[in-house]
Amino acid sequence: MSGYRIRDAGSGDALALTEALVEAANWDSDRQRPRVAVLADPVRRRYIASWPRPGDAGVLAVDGEGDPIGACWYRLFPADRPGLAAVPGVPEITLGVRPVWRAQGVGRTMLRAVLEKSIAAGHPRVALSVERGNFAQRLYISEGFVTVSSNDTADIMVRAAR
Ligand SMILES: CC(C)(COP(=O)(O)OP(=O)(O)OC[C@H]1O[C@@H](n2cnc3c(N)ncnc32)[C@H](O)[C@@H]1OP(=O)(O)O)[C@@H](O)C(=O)NCCC(=O)NCCS
Repeated sequence: MSGYRIRDAGSGDALALTEALVEAANWDSDRQRPRVAVLADPVRRRYIASWPRPGDAGVLAVDGEGDPIGACWYRLFPADRPGLAAVPGVPEITLGVRPVWRAQGVGRTMLRAVLEKSIAAGHPRVALSVERGNFAQRLYISEGFVTVSSNDTADIMVRAAR
């Protein structure tokens, strides 16, 4: 496939971010979580609640018709109520691409756009959590993320602005 473009995520894009959040939670085709279960998860739902809040930033990838095919964004959580990548004071990135659009550069393009936004907004670091076995980790390593801590199922990765 070809013919996608990247645009800023705005206040009308909560649904597109929600779809990407569900994709991100369901990276493992052998362990699919029902959409309602992902959205009912008290931690995961906080990544999109009341989008956009002050300080949030992100992008969408859209196809030739303008329909969303993926999203990437960051949100800063309070230190006493962190997300999955609990690095105090560091915003967390979420990334998801619709299956038929994967492995065509969409994810990397969105990630780079959001990294630029985070730096422009004055964040010296960004973080994310990636479950073990997800090839997305290769993408993150190639974009300068390093693992700073791990739990039983996931690695927390951080990227410092260059
Ligand atoms: C992870 C994801 C966002 C990457 O987006 P994408 O558009 O598919 O990725 P890209 O085409 O930009 O590829 C970026 C890198 O990912 C890796 N990659 C992509 N597809 C891959 C595949 N099928 N197998 C192995 N590695 C792959 C490669 O390292 C690739 O770099 P390369 O092309 O230089 O080799 C997307 O596959 C996705 O939505 N997956 C499910 C949700 C998810 O895992 N989200 C992240 C949760 S932390």
